Order: sequence, then C-alpha cells, then structure tokens
Amino acid sequence: MPSELITNIAELTTMDDEDRQLHDAAVVVEDGLIAWIGAAAEAPDADRRTDVAGRAALPGWVDSHSHLVFAGDRSAEFEARMSGAPYQAGGIQTTVTATRAASDDELRANLRRHISEAQHQGTTWLETKTGYGLDVDSELRSARIAEAELDDVTFLGAHLVPQGADADEYTRLVAGPMLDAVAPHVNWIDVFCERGAFDAEQSAHVLEAGLRHGLGLRVHGNQLGEGPGVALAVEYSAASVDHCNYLSAEDIRLLAESRSASDGGASAGTVATLLPACDLSTRQPFGPARELLDAGVTVALAANCNPGSSYTTSMPFVVATAVLQMRMTIREALWAATRGGAKALRRDRGTADSPAIGSLQPGARADIQVLDAPSAAHLAYRPGVPLTWDVWRGGHRIV
Ligand code: NIG
Repeated sequence: MPSELITNIAELTTMDDEDRQLHDAAVVVEDGLIAWIGAAAEAPDADRRTDVAGRAALPGWVDSHSHLVFAGDRSAEFEARMSGAPYQAGGIQTTVTATRAASDDELRANLRRHISEAQHQGTTWLETKTGYGLDVDSELRSARIAEAELDDVTFLGAHLVPQGADADEYTRLVAGPMLDAVAPHVNWIDVFCERGAFDAEQSAHVLEAGLRHGLGLRVHGNQLGEGPGVALAVEYSAASVDHCNYLSAEDIRLLAESRSASDGGASAGTVATLLPACDLSTRQPFGPARELLDAGVTVALAANCNPGSSYTTSMPFVVATAVLQMRMTIREALWAATRGGAKALRRDRGTADSPAIGSLQPGARADIQVLDAPSAAHLAYRPGVPLTWDVWRGGHRIV
C-alpha cells in the first residue's frame, strides 16, 4: 500500500498515552498503520499527500456497543413512548419475531447498511451483538452474519427470556447448547442483568459458561433500576458494564476499585460504558458520567444502535449529548468515544495480530477522521451539523 502524508491539520487530537493535542500537524500512514506523527513542517515525504486545509483530525470513533443483526421496525413503540409509555425489556420480542422471519440476505444487507451509516459519521470500529434470535439456530445465524462483517461480535443469547419459555430452563439452554454452537463465531459474551430479563444467579451462570469457552465478558446492567449488574461485572472482571443509569455509591466505588486493582490502576478495570442516545430515546436519566469520572472510573461512550431503545449510529450525536447534557468536558467525551471504547473492547494496546485502536500514535491502526471544522470542540459547539469530512480505516480512505 503506498504511504500517505495527511498534512495541514489545524488540531490533531491523538488520544495517545500522553494525551497530546498537536497544532499545524501531520500524520504519515504506511501499511495501514500510523508511521509518524508530528509538526507539519517536519513531516517526512510519502508516496501520496492529502492536504486537509486547516481542519481538525482525531481517531475514528470506537463504538463498543450495538445490536445490528436485526430486522423490522419499532417506530410505533417509540411513538407510544414519546406519548408517555415506559420502555420495557419485553419490546425485544417484537424484533426477535421479525429477525427470525427475515432471510440471511436481508439481515446481512441491514447490517451492512448500518455499518456504512456509522462509518460515514466517523466510526472506524464497531462491536455488535446477537440477541434477536434467542434459539440455537437463530443465534448461530446472527453470529455468522456478524462475524463476516465485524471483528468484535458478542453473543447475547441472554437478552430476554423468549415468550412462553421458563427462565431457568432458557438460561441453561443459553449457557449450554446455544453457547456451544455460537462460541466459535464470537469473541465476547454478554447478559442483560436486569429485572424483567436475567437475575444475578442466572447472569453469573451465563458468564461462567462464557469464561469456560474462553470468551471475554460484558454485562448490560443497571439500565432500568439499581440492581446487581455492576457488582457482577466487577466480580467477574468483565471488560465493560453497559448502560449504568442507576448506580449506587457502592457501584461507583466498585468500578473505581476495579481499575486500581488491575495493574496498579494502569489498565481500565471494568469500563462503565454510557449510552446517552439510548437514555434520551427511553427517557431514562443519563448515566452519572461526572460522578464516575470524578471517582476515577474508566468511562466509554457508545451509540447502542438497535431498533428498540436507541435507533442511531451517530457517535457525533452521542459525543455532543455527553458534553451538553452529561457535564462531560469536550476532551473527556472525545476520549470516551475513542480510547475509552477501545479500552472497553480491550483493544487500546496493540498485539502482534491486532494493532491498537482508539489513538493516533506510531504503530496504531490508521483509523483517522477529519472534521470539516478547525477543532473537535465543534462536535458539541455545532450539534447536529454533519462535520465528518474524511475517514481512513486501516489506512484506507472510506469516506
Ligand atoms: O442495550 N437493554 C437491552 N438491550 C438493548 C435494547 C434492545 C431492544 O429494546 O431491542 C439495549 O438497550
């Protein structure tokens, strides 16, 4: 692949280990990786040159939570909610029925459409979950379709107890034959630990089964009320607990402690992934971002695109909401939507097979977005305005 110099960057937010922000900067991309970063005036030559004419650049968004293998539409449920009906986990069943009825081609096309929509808004890494199949064949089909398109795929057979099933029996199915079938196609397992979905004991059963299959752990927790989700996630050293709308002081303490317990605080511990677009769409209180950050918890932001609780792929919308409504600073929100997402997926440190994502530093994957604005602050300063100008993913320009 020819090397490329991206230059004349007015503001370059690196999210590197020193959290540097450079001005009048340039980046050199080689073989899909960042090869060099520094002052534009000192940039080395490259095969190709792209002048971004005084725009801002930052890492592509790392969206660490979505549910994109689905069919059907729940706009009527959304409309009812906007008229005062509460959000209930049971709505998931509507999408399960539509997803089971859809063909592979329909599911694949829908998934690709949403990936492309996200990429056109600066997302360069997406996780997605299964969870709208809820039987062995349908979950396996969802996992296979997802793994062909994305690198982070999460098995969420424990999304809801399907209509008519017994909860304990279904939990055993998820942790047994369903997981046996799906595990070769996913790298994560997740459970919706919430009243109306799975209790602490059932959730622990699912996580333990996931561990035996060598999968990384994630938890949906504390979305609709206080509950055992966060404590369970920390107990099992899950990479992330997602939603976190209703947290007790003890939950926040546990999350902060998980960070200091792991690697003297150098690693992220269990990341609290906040989903502000979902909070708006379900009219839940926002997750307590300020309290989490002030306690030293690692926070990620994600879009949670799904047809029920958060039908958006827009990370710029998420970042603007986090700043304008959740009292996060611009730098905190940008970090949480890039490096924080990478930490929630345990990908912020590269390995031999998989370069680091979520930051721009030599050796990291060349996942870069350029904004049609002189600084990244414009993402919150000009909310709702499409600012994505250019996107490189693994060194390839995709927008
Ligand atoms: O993350 N909370 C559970 N799962 C999804 C919602 C799925 C749905 O309503 O279809 C979420 O919000």
